[in-house]
Amino acid sequence: MTPLARRTIRRASGFLASRTMTAEPFARMNRLAAAAPLMAAALALAGCAASEPPMTTLAPKSDLAQWIYDLMVEVTAWDALIFLIVVVAFTLAVFFFSTRVGEAAPPSSVASDLALEAAWTIGPALVVLMISIPTVRTIFRSQPPVPPAGSLEVKVIAHQWWWEFHYAGSGIATANELHIPVGRPIRLALQSADVIHSFWVPQLGGKRDVVPGQINELTLAARVAGTYVGQCAEFCGLSHANMRLRVIVESPEQFALWAKLQQAAPTALSAANAAASDGARIFANSPCTTCHRIDGVSKGALAPDLTHFASRTTLAAGILPNTPESVARWIANPGAVKPGAQMPPLGLGANQVSDLAAYLESLK
Ligand code: CUA
Repeated sequence: MTPLARRTIRRASGFLASRTMTAEPFARMNRLAAAAPLMAAALALAGCAASEPPMTTLAPKSDLAQWIYDLMVEVTAWDALIFLIVVVAFTLAVFFFSTRVGEAAPPSSVASDLALEAAWTIGPALVVLMISIPTVRTIFRSQPPVPPAGSLEVKVIAHQWWWEFHYAGSGIATANELHIPVGRPIRLALQSADVIHSFWVPQLGGKRDVVPGQINELTLAARVAGTYVGQCAEFCGLSHANMRLRVIVESPEQFALWAKLQQAAPTALSAANAAASDGARIFANSPCTTCHRIDGVSKGALAPDLTHFASRTTLAAGILPNTPESVARWIANPGAVKPGAQMPPLGLGANQVSDLAAYLESLK
């Protein structure tokens, strides 16, 4: 063993021995280890159900999300390099350039070392530059001043607590589920009806704030078909966490088919479906018509358009699966599902609620 190695080991063991290890930190670590499975279970329960697609920025599925992901990788690589340099410098300083026990410290020359001062000014400036150049480049790339040629333009209106979508030029209006074709650029014009929200579908791109009194834009082209889950990302009141959305990316043919169905009148009621016919009468004579629009039935504009309600996979801003049971549960007491929801309970009987659910579920 070389004298240098011996000295290094002696110093390291002295350093560790100088740290007093009492029984208390070990006991705390044991308690933490015992609680780990419980904490893992709690985290799993607190997260989404297993059937929910993941909300992750680590599996980008659009050009915008890919640029942001690449930027993250690039900055992380620079950070890792800097971390490595700092660790090496720190190790050298502790083990090789420090004063030994009993030795007098050498006189400091730092105050007059111009080269050192220049180095620790220029070094951090270079780090900031290395990180800011790709960041600024990505910001400009993600916000083209004019929509790319052939863009699909959609007006997005954020409400407490749901999302409204209007497709420019086609008259299509829907809520909480945005259908887009794969490969085609999408230009979202984001507006708010009340407070500040934030549009965020992690696999399709970064957050964009939705601010009252102005239009913010988001441009992206999805690269892979699928269903991507999103969430309002700016605290906007009691049910902020219940303000979810889905983006359904489909082939151009599937999208065209969906658009055609959305533009058509709602499906005619089948005479055989007595519950739905009763539900239609209940709807037409209820206060529902003040807020909800159903083509040919009502003109409300304060709440989601229900013309093709049954074509959506979820309701109540993505909280519940679109089943007759969920619809009945929602109508019976919206506030119990989405605290603070502006839709009031209508005080209907159980039969009326289930008829209304049958009617809504017939609106394909
Ligand atoms: Cu809308 Cu949070």
